[in-house]
Amino acid sequence: MKEKIEQLRKLNQQAEIGGGEARIEKQHTSGKLTARERIDLLLEKGTFVEIDKFVTHSCYDFGMEKQKTLGDGVITGYGIIGKRTVFVFAQDFTVFGGALSETYAKKICKIMDMAMQLGAPVIGLNDSGGARIQEGVRSLAGYAEIFLRNSLASGVIPQISAIMGPCAGGAVYSPALTDFIFMVKESSYMFITGPEVVKSVTQEEVTKNELGGSEIHTTRSGVAHFSADNDIDCILKVRELISFLPNNNMEEPPFVPTTDSPNRRDLTLNDLIPTNPNQPYDMKELIHSVADDRNFYEVQEDYATNIVVGYIRLNGKTIGVVANQPNSLAGTLDINASVKAARFVRFCDAFNIPLLTLVDVPGFLPGVNQEYEGIIRHGAKLLYAYCEATVPKVTLITRKAYGGAYDVMSSKHIRGDVNFAYPTAEIAVMGADGAVNILFRKEISSSKDPEATRKELQDDYRDKFANPYRAAELGYVDEIIEPSVTRERLIRSFELLANKRQSNPPKKHSNIPL
Ligand code: HXC
Repeated sequence: MKEKIEQLRKLNQQAEIGGGEARIEKQHTSGKLTARERIDLLLEKGTFVEIDKFVTHSCYDFGMEKQKTLGDGVITGYGIIGKRTVFVFAQDFTVFGGALSETYAKKICKIMDMAMQLGAPVIGLNDSGGARIQEGVRSLAGYAEIFLRNSLASGVIPQISAIMGPCAGGAVYSPALTDFIFMVKESSYMFITGPEVVKSVTQEEVTKNELGGSEIHTTRSGVAHFSADNDIDCILKVRELISFLPNNNMEEPPFVPTTDSPNRRDLTLNDLIPTNPNQPYDMKELIHSVADDRNFYEVQEDYATNIVVGYIRLNGKTIGVVANQPNSLAGTLDINASVKAARFVRFCDAFNIPLLTLVDVPGFLPGVNQEYEGIIRHGAKLLYAYCEATVPKVTLITRKAYGGAYDVMSSKHIRGDVNFAYPTAEIAVMGADGAVNILFRKEISSSKDPEATRKELQDDYRDKFANPYRAAELGYVDEIIEPSVTRERLIRSFELLANKRQSNPPKKHSNIPL
């Protein structure tokens, strides 16, 4: 028995060393942690249970039968974050550059299948040279098996990808199918084809970082949701995200008790909205003000900054926030903002996360480019996402709610449950300047003093429409509230809606305008 235990210990040690000391050293000198170190950091100490530790590949080409490593370059298993079980796989760059073989893919599929059956999130720590070249189509088949599971698991369990090294070619599509992508600055990149292929096809010269580094994907392409300074920062951010999410679509998000009073008032909010309707302000001040402990976990912070999305807790419960940002492009809805918010709304709806929508929107962004790029189709995504969402929806109009954007931003008409407005709200088809120009062109041009007439008409229009009272008369706004009591009113509303049950007509699936 003693010998057998000794043998097991040896095999465990052998598996744990992966590609060997020299390659581990190389991993460290390039500023990266090893796959095992990453898992240790991600999970509560001592909770990781490894599966398939002794699996090896079954490739006999290119002399591969002589190059077998226990575990075959990916570490898979489960453990605890906080108090809940998550499944995890970590690609081990020290073994064949983390390249994916058939058996490696099977290991990942196995934990994905378990996660689906048990209703637990899957976190993938990616660091890989892509398809294992020696395995040819068997590796491609392995990827496809993972893609299938990513798609089937979508909306059932949260799937999170951290890109902590290379991620290239078709391999990018597994993370792309997951719900959230984290990238580590400097050490990670994602692209379909690398700089050399780009150069040979389009003659463009770019570095890996310029083509697919974290900055590009979190600011320009919108592929990634978060960027981290290093591996440690990345993993801590993943852990925090998990704390806001339920383990699956049948559960509620976790409750996190707070000492922050639900009745806390904030008098500074009474001065947040500037008197001049064209003056910007920072909507995030409102978000921080209402949130438990002022904590706001922002998603896609640096992409489409004219809309803000992310998570807060209200009296301990996770709430997804979507907010127009007057500080950026005057808070207009453009293509990127619409797509960013639509995906966020759909994630929240799939995972029973109530939605708070803060509205200050002058409309969709005008422009030839926006029209050519399909603002109609992309704007429709956000409208669609809100219309189909059945989670509790609370809306607060702080200032402008103009035109189609009023309808889109979780209005009463598309099943907003509780709709508030501040006294500063302006709910109308358009702003006073535009409306007067269209309605009274003749009167203005034939007047003795066109400017005075224009101003008079604009003032009149503002008196009539630049307020929330018309909408309140019609019941389109449930209550007009003083800003200082916002937190209290929002908490009361979400508590009221806690047991909301609503469903959509049965269908195979919907046809969101993609
Ligand atoms: C097999 C691979 C490999 C791969 C790297 N290695 N990529 N082995 N298949 N795809 C091995 C190397 O041979 C090397 O082995 C070790 O991993 C480390 O690689 P290095 O090149 O020394 O590391 P580095 O200089 O850091 O460069 C990393 C790299 C580079 C940029 C990832 O290795 C690289 O370009 N690899 C090929 C990437 C690629 O083209 N993959 C296919 C993409 S297409 P030794 O023994 O020397 O340490 C794809 C399709 C997926 O993936 C389709 C899905 C549908």
